[in-house]
Amino acid sequence: MSSTTKRPGLFIVLEGIDGTGKSTQAKRLGEWLAALGREAVLSREPTAGPWGRKVRESAATGRLAPEDELQYFLNDRRQHVEELIAPSLAAGKVVILDRYYFSTMAYQGARGFDPAEIRRQNEEFAPVPDLLLIMDLDVDSALERIGARGDTANEFEKRENLEHCREIFLSLKGEGFVRVIDTRGTLDEVAARVREAVGRHLV
Ligand code: TYD
Repeated sequence: MSSTTKRPGLFIVLEGIDGTGKSTQAKRLGEWLAALGREAVLSREPTAGPWGRKVRESAATGRLAPEDELQYFLNDRRQHVEELIAPSLAAGKVVILDRYYFSTMAYQGARGFDPAEIRRQNEEFAPVPDLLLIMDLDVDSALERIGARGDTANEFEKRENLEHCREIFLSLKGEGFVRVIDTRGTLDEVAARVREAVGRHLV
């Protein structure tokens, strides 16, 4: 389904490197939409399903072989689309995702796969969002935030890797459904930027 195809729901995706505040802002956006009377479904990738669990474990224990890792993310997403994303959109709900296939373009792209090819593979089965918010922050500040929340950077969060991922995310800038959100400033300031971008899509 292309981004211009009419469907009953609204599909919003938040992307960006680790430490940009995606999860917090996704949650706040969901609360705001609920207060406006919209039924919002909040979800994330990797999911809590079997494939998602395997890749999440690998962040701590050592990354999987590149081909396996890519395949696991695709399997996880296929299940997510079938079980949650597509039915929720068809039911007219707002779906808010914390990460989606743009993360595969960025992170598995940074491991050597062609981001354009990853995108093509995903768009064969994964609906294109109505709005893609790229939560942007320089890598030093992102790593500082990861440290400040008491986490140590895991295998996915190495500086050089994040630089490359950020570059791939920002390469999407300019496409009609993409908005880059500056995540510097307070949570309230960033939330206001997110609401402003989403507000245009609410009828
Ligand atoms: P993350 O959002 O950090 O999950 P959690 O907070 O539960 O650990 O996702 C874990 C990592 O997975 C993150 O560093 C990015 C990576 N990732 C990919 O490499 N490819 C993908 O397709 C997705 C969805 C995530």
